Amino acid sequence: MKIDDCEAWARHQLAEVEAAIDNLVPAAAPAGLGLAMRYAVLDGGKRLRPLLVLAAAEAVQGEALAAMRSAVAVELIHAYSLVHDDMPCMDDDALRRGKPTTHVAYGEAQAMLAGDAMQALAFEVLTPDEGIEPALQARLVRLLARASGSAGMAGGQAIDLASVGKPLDESQLRDMHRRKTGALLQASVLMGAACGRTSADAWAALAEYGDAIGLAFQVVDDILDCTQDSEVLGKTAGKDQDANKPTYVSTLGLERAQAYAIALRDQAQSALTRAGLPAPARLAWLADRLVERNN
Ligand code: IPE
Ligand code: IPE
Ligand code: MG
Ligand code: MG
Ligand code: MG
Repeated sequence: MKIDDCEAWARHQLAEVEAAIDNLVPAAAPAGLGLAMRYAVLDGGKRLRPLLVLAAAEAVQGEALAAMRSAVAVELIHAYSLVHDDMPCMDDDALRRGKPTTHVAYGEAQAMLAGDAMQALAFEVLTPDEGIEPALQARLVRLLARASGSAGMAGGQAIDLASVGKPLDESQLRDMHRRKTGALLQASVLMGAACGRTSADAWAALAEYGDAIGLAFQVVDDILDCTQDSEVLGKTAGKDQDANKPTYVSTLGLERAQAYAIALRDQAQSALTRAGLPAPARLAWLADRLVERNN
């Protein structure tokens, strides 16, 4: 199905992603665990990572099943990272996606286990018995594992917690943001691209696009934390300053942080042009949306 308008395209894709998540996250997991998992991942969030996967897959005319499974897997990892990020031992937050956080609704132990199980499910989703070639399955698993683990999200979160109350210089801050948030956004782009054919040059240009929007995304998250209210964000505003976290706003100031996000967006757009893909329009639209968002 070909839809020209990007907003309509996104609505259509998000309905399919929601249905796939609904299908793949088991309500019947033991002792209420499935309910906590479904609470954490269904019905909420902007779903920008799944959209990036699907946009990149469209850009390279990739395989539909592999792309949809990748979109679900990335969202599962992201939603698990939010469940753990909000727990009292991490950021201690009570509001997420406009509703009580998973540990508030289901208790800490169940929230921790829901995160664990969502992480495992992400990899199960990428390895179906049929429909995705084994070599592509392995490639997708590796891209996602690398972005989620100690080299990526989990490593970045460790730096985040170790940096409370410490001013970081710009290069340390960049490194932390690239890992804790950028890696999974970049992996979303590359997993989508892996579903089709790309030249080595196009792959490198897409990796640069993903790196730039990934970093821009967390710069904007830092900005919104201190410029928006909780109702618009669906999560508690002003947390970073309260928790004494080093951010792009605390390090560069608001204006320079905003200018940096725009510069990264521009870098992403020029990398995308250089990639010379058959259908880059959704990726171009998403780069703007990631930076120009208000929640
Ligand atoms: C919030 O991510 C956490 C970060 C990695 C910055 P999103 O802003 O994508 O959160 P949802 O998925 O829309 O809730
Ligand atoms: C979270 O960064 C990054 C994750 C890997 C979840 P934040 O702690 O700034 O995310 P929010 O602001 O709580 O969504
Ligand atoms: Mg955090
Ligand atoms: Mg947080
Ligand atoms: Mg934040």
